[in-house]
Amino acid sequence: MSEKTAAFEEPFGRLQEWLAEAEESEPNDPTAVALATATKDGFPSLRMVLMKGCDERGVVFYTNLESRKGVELAENPNVAMLFHWKSLRRQIRIEGAVEPVTTEEADAYFASRPRASRIGAWASKQSREMAGRFEFEAAIAQYTAKFGVGEVPRPENWSGFRLKPKYFEFWRDRKFRLHERITYTLNETGSIWGLAELYP
Ligand SMILES: Cc1cc2nc3c(=O)[nH]c(=O)nc-3n(C[C@H](O)[C@H](O)[C@H](O)COP(=O)(O)O)c2cc1C
Repeated sequence: MSEKTAAFEEPFGRLQEWLAEAEESEPNDPTAVALATATKDGFPSLRMVLMKGCDERGVVFYTNLESRKGVELAENPNVAMLFHWKSLRRQIRIEGAVEPVTTEEADAYFASRPRASRIGAWASKQSREMAGRFEFEAAIAQYTAKFGVGEVPRPENWSGFRLKPKYFEFWRDRKFRLHERITYTLNETGSIWGLAELYP
C-alpha cells in the first residue's frame, strides 16, 4: 500500500479528502452519488441523489418518503452508494443500512433550501404518475398561495436517511488499467475497520 493510503486507518478521513478534491475539480454536483435500494425480495433500483452530510456517523441524503426509493427503504434498509468523479478518475463504493435522520436534522436542512424548492417538495408526489405537467404546476400554484409570505414547513413525507457504512472501496485510476482498490470493512462489533487491497 502507498504511504498516502496507509495514512488513513479508517475510511471517513479519506472520504472527506476525496470529496474536498472533487469540490475543486468536478464541474457539476461533486456530491452527486448513485444510490441503490432494493425491495424486500431483493429486486434492485438505482438513481442519483445529493449527499448532504458526511461524518463518522454516516452519509446523509434527503428525499420523499413515498417515492420509489422511500418505499423500498421502508421495507429494506440495505443500500449501496457509488460516487464517481470523472475529473479525478476515482470512484467510492459504500455499503450498509440506512437509518432515518432526526426530526431536528430534517427540519434544519429543509429550512436551508430555497423557498421554491420547499414549495416543490409539497407539490411533488415524487415517483407517482401525473396526468400532465399542468397538474404539477397547479399544485405549485396552490401551495404558493397557501403559504403566502409565511414559513414553508417541512412536509411529513419529506425527510432524510443516514447510511451507516459497513464497507467502503476507494478506487483510483492507474496506468494500463492497473488500478488501485482499497477496501475498509467494519468488524462484527462495529469497532474496527479492516483494510485490504484488491486486485483491479
Ligand atoms: C445529480 C442528481 C441529484 C439528485 N438529487 C436528488 C436528491 O437529493 N433527492 C431526491 O429525492 N432525488 C434526487 N434526484 C432525483 C432522483 O435521481 C430520482 O429521479 C428521484 O429521487 C426519484 O427516484 P425514485 O423514483 O427511485 O424514488 C437527483 C437527480 C440527479 C440527476
